[in-house]
Amino acid sequence: MYKILKAEKLAANIYLMDVEAPRVARHCEPGQFVIVKMDEKGERIPLTICDYDREAGTITIVFQPVGASTTKMTEMKAGDYFRDFTGPLGCPSEFIHEDLEELKKKKILFVGGGVGAAPVYPQVKWMKEHGIDVDVIIGSKTKDLLILEDQMEAAAGNYYPCTDDGSYGHAGMVTTKIEQLVEEGNKYDVCIAIGPMIMMKFVCLLTKKLEIPTVVSMNPIMVDGTGMCGACRLIVGGEVKFACVDGPEFDGHLVDFDNAMKRQQMYKTQEGRAMLKLQE
Ligand code: FES
Repeated sequence: MYKILKAEKLAANIYLMDVEAPRVARHCEPGQFVIVKMDEKGERIPLTICDYDREAGTITIVFQPVGASTTKMTEMKAGDYFRDFTGPLGCPSEFIHEDLEELKKKKILFVGGGVGAAPVYPQVKWMKEHGIDVDVIIGSKTKDLLILEDQMEAAAGNYYPCTDDGSYGHAGMVTTKIEQLVEEGNKYDVCIAIGPMIMMKFVCLLTKKLEIPTVVSMNPIMVDGTGMCGACRLIVGGEVKFACVDGPEFDGHLVDFDNAMKRQQMYKTQEGRAMLKLQE
């Protein structure tokens, strides 16, 4: 059993929890995720790791209620327990294996969209801890939906918030901010984009044009998280890959986003039924 130490609402429809999970906290790296289960019969829910404290033995998760299980999860509070908290799963971000001196020479751009700011944060924090200043663009629909602002301000070399409605920061999509930064003379060696698939698709279309190698973190439907069920399969460079064991990070210029988005819609009917049952 895994105790929730803190549960709070970060923004409308975005929630944060600190969970006591010492083994996961000891071994996890940026880029990895966990699969949680609320109770014995509960659905397995994949969640990216937003932060970890190895000494305290805690993991921070940030999530958005998108279906029946995550909606139920919003009712959990400090002192409650998860039945399972499996992880760390997936491969860590590739840069943690890179030669640090080589990495320091690169100009790196992170782009996060909505709740995608959560998995971006541990990567930006890792960079900061290793003496690397990176540029970070975080986009959301409105100012109220921007999360982890203080943390991003503290960890990023340059932090650029963007809002679709222009209520704060750069007015417009993250892609227009990327274009602006490049026009201003920034030459990025790599872009790491995490957020809704549609955002990652358009970031990749742009960075391909701008010839900036781009890594994305894919969030397809997952079941077992161990490469056995095939639920999370994606087409990357014409080959079938499993996000849970081959990813979740991939070369964004090789991902077939249209296929991935189509697969993401596959269980909408079942999900709708589960939501109706929850409301009964
Ligand atoms: Fe089952 Fe990836 S979640 S193979």
